[in-house]
Parts: sequence; C-alpha cells; structure tokens
Amino acid sequence: MSFLEQIDRDRIPSHVAVIMDGNGRWANKLGKDRLEGHTQGAVRAREIVDAANKIGIKYITLYAFSIENWERPESEVNGLMALLSKSIVSQFADLIKYNMRLTTIGDNSMLPDDVRADIEEACHKSAANTGLTVVIALSYGGRYEIMNAVKTLLKRYKQSPFDIDSLKDDDFSKCLYTADMPDPELLIRTSGEVRVSNFLLWQISYSELYFTDVLWPDFDEEQFYKAIVDYQHRERRFGKTSQQIGS
Ligand code: FPP
Repeated sequence: MSFLEQIDRDRIPSHVAVIMDGNGRWANKLGKDRLEGHTQGAVRAREIVDAANKIGIKYITLYAFSIENWERPESEVNGLMALLSKSIVSQFADLIKYNMRLTTIGDNSMLPDDVRADIEEACHKSAANTGLTVVIALSYGGRYEIMNAVKTLLKRYKQSPFDIDSLKDDDFSKCLYTADMPDPELLIRTSGEVRVSNFLLWQISYSELYFTDVLWPDFDEEQFYKAIVDYQHRERRFGKTSQQIGS
C-alpha cells in the first residue's frame, strides 16, 4: 500500500513546516554546481506544495533562505534570489488556479528590490485566495523574529503602559510573522541533519519533528506522505499522560 493510501484523512495536520536541506550535497554527489541542486530543490518544492494541497493541509511553510544564508558566497546568494523570483513568477498562474495564497515570513527589506517586488506582487494578488497557504521563509531567523516581537511589545508598553503580568502566550504570538497562522504540528527536515537551525523557534514548541536522510532534491511526494503517516502514528501528549489524553 502506498503512503498516500495509508494517510488518515480525518487527522491531517493543519500546518507543516519544512527545512529543505541537502541541495548542495546532492549537487556535489553528482559533480554538479550547487545552484543545480537548488534548481532541482525548487522542482521538489513545487511537488511538495501540490502534495500538501492534495491531502488538504492548510499551511505549508518552506525554509527557502535563512538570515544566516546571506553569508554564503555572493554567486550562490544571487543564484538563489534569481531562482526564487523565477519560481514564484513562473508558478503564479498555477497558484491562482488552485486557489492558493502565497505569503512570506522574514525580513523582506533585506531582499534585492526586484525580487521583493515580484514576491510582494504574487502575495498581494493571491491574498484573497482561500485554499492552501504557501508560506516562504525568506531572510528568516527565529531569534530575529522573537527579538522583533519583544521590541514591538516594549514599544507598545512605552506608548501606553499595560499590566505586564497579564501578558499571555497569545499576546506574544500575535507579534510574530506567523500571527494569523496555527503553529506547525509537524516539522520535517531532510538530509540527515538533526537540528532546528533557528527555524520557527517559538512556534515549534510542541511540533512533532521528523528527520530523514533523504536529500531535499530527492524528497518526492511519497517521501512527504511517509512523513505524514509517521506523524499520524505519534501520540501527542502536550506534557500530559497517555491516560489524560484518552489513548
Ligand atoms: C539548503 O540546502 C537549501 C537552501 C539554503 C535553499 C532552499 C531553496 C530551494 C529549495 C529553492 C527555492 C525554493 C522555493 C520555495 C521556490 P544546502 O544548500 O544547505 O545544502 P547542503 O547542506 O547540502 O550544502
């Protein structure tokens, strides 16, 4: 039985986050340029977005470029930026056709002007769509996001002081890029690395983590469904006991 057939359609996670890792190693293994790895990675990103849509996931967040990635060689950074723009522009028609909404998280102000313009246009034109939300994490850093939220709250306090002890988790969540999104139930990382690399640090507090040795350019639809099946076999206790959650 395929992994797709094993999926319980009544227990689909609403939000899946993905660290798409291993493009460089994939290219290296085949004697290709790193950018060819990213190009094949973009093909897989499209495949996985379609797979997520097919099974009714509501949000998929793809870690496309971290704030730390700006430190990579200039040629790779430029290549990645061009690839991102090209992928978004070339797939825009399908995005609209499938009623998907595109949005980004991260510091867009650091992007080259033309790239930012292409991305903002696609986000703006798809904003009213009601299907799958595709979230691209771009120039994103988890600590940076948390620090920004702290600054937002402090500025708010300075303008109009409030009762600090009454602050709730939710007040903080609302200051993050992901303010209007559910936290991811599942985080997938490819390529055998077992770390979270500054990704959605606040939001993954209770996420199930799924690690696979498969390199991102080889991570196909069936691999994605395998991760969903694995997730569905986990018991999510949120700090409680098995008895308390009735399993
Ligand atoms: C990590 O592999 C991957 C990236 C830094 C870039 C991810 C970008 C894409 C998959 C392409 C565009 C995406 C979209 C959403 C259109 P790595 O370079 O760190 O690989 P390595 O660890 O093997 O060197």
